[in-house]
Amino acid sequence: VRTQVAIVGAGPAGLILSHLLAAAGIDSVVIDQRSRDEIEQTIRAGILEQSTIDLLASIPGSRAHTVGLRHDGIELRFDGAGHRIDFPGLAGRSVWLFPQHEALRDLLAARIGAGQDIRFGVTATAVEDASGARPRVVAVDDAGAGLEIEADFVVGADGSHSVVRRAISGSHDGYFREYPFAWFGILCEAPPSADELIYSNSPDGFALISQRSPTVQRMYFQCDPTDDAQAPSDAEIWDTLQKRVPGTTLNEGSIFQRDVLRFRSFVARTLRQGRLAIVGDAAHTVPPTGAKGMNLAVADVVLLARALEALLLRSDEGPLDGWAEAALDRIWKAQHFSWWMTSMLHVAPDATDFDRHRQLGELRSVVESEAGRTYLAEAYTGWPFG
Ligand code: DHB
Repeated sequence: VRTQVAIVGAGPAGLILSHLLAAAGIDSVVIDQRSRDEIEQTIRAGILEQSTIDLLASIPGSRAHTVGLRHDGIELRFDGAGHRIDFPGLAGRSVWLFPQHEALRDLLAARIGAGQDIRFGVTATAVEDASGARPRVVAVDDAGAGLEIEADFVVGADGSHSVVRRAISGSHDGYFREYPFAWFGILCEAPPSADELIYSNSPDGFALISQRSPTVQRMYFQCDPTDDAQAPSDAEIWDTLQKRVPGTTLNEGSIFQRDVLRFRSFVARTLRQGRLAIVGDAAHTVPPTGAKGMNLAVADVVLLARALEALLLRSDEGPLDGWAEAALDRIWKAQHFSWWMTSMLHVAPDATDFDRHRQLGELRSVVESEAGRTYLAEAYTGWPFG
């Protein structure tokens, strides 16, 4: 197969990139090792920045504004009190609760409806001629048949175990940080317990009360990275959650999914080499606190689509040469914000009394200062694409 851009990965980054390229008249082929059902059913992110939702809403058939719910703030809870961060008042923007799997259903329907070549159940195994003008993605389908895609440009939107990343020299190393805790996440059938998300710093550890829809809720509590998601009973889970949001009585309901999410920060050292680039989770990982992961992936491909337009339609390499630096500018701001929210809200296993009091001082410094609240609101709602 020959195409202009080979995209490995049909998650949000890969599909949005194929949409932006098609709108500019550039052909692409998208492959993903998963089936369409698997992609549409994986429960992942929930909170989208204003710029992300605006972009999704511009794609024909999008339910971003009908299924999505605008959230104009969050609550930070600590030391027995709640403090609202008012996004429009402080940053002039909001965020939207629009589950990633719903966004993916829309994106897949739109791209397939537009005639996009997407191949499911096709696993990339290598990139050949990675340093040449026509790199090739070598892949194999579920039946064992081989496929080669020759392209002017190859984009790895293939997640944290990216095959494309391995073809970029130096990209196996990068900048890492591990954290001494994880999140225990549940999905349950219940009405929301609060109008807005609650980020709670309690002496027993962090909890986040999020939502998915009027009838399904997502909640998390800080746990040990080695904890087994199947170990606690439902009653124990509710007990832990209730204790960590003092002042609110959570609406309990049947828990139908549970998982333990490991925390990691990672940025690959090299995002682009010649005619190869990596985007989204292939290029970076953030800890979940602050919900930056999917938003960063979308920002990567908005910038990359502009650079590929210049390269492929006008033979102008300038924007591509500046792409990694422009993407990294936002990536490191998001890394800082995610690290900061994480460290400010969680209780480290080795925290001393000093650490605990300092953390409460930090939280008070943020909520009592308009400058502090404004930084949080600007970062949470996301920096404009520019
Ligand atoms: C969700 C996850 C987050 O990391 C966050 O900061 C807010 C919401 C969620 O899954 O709903």
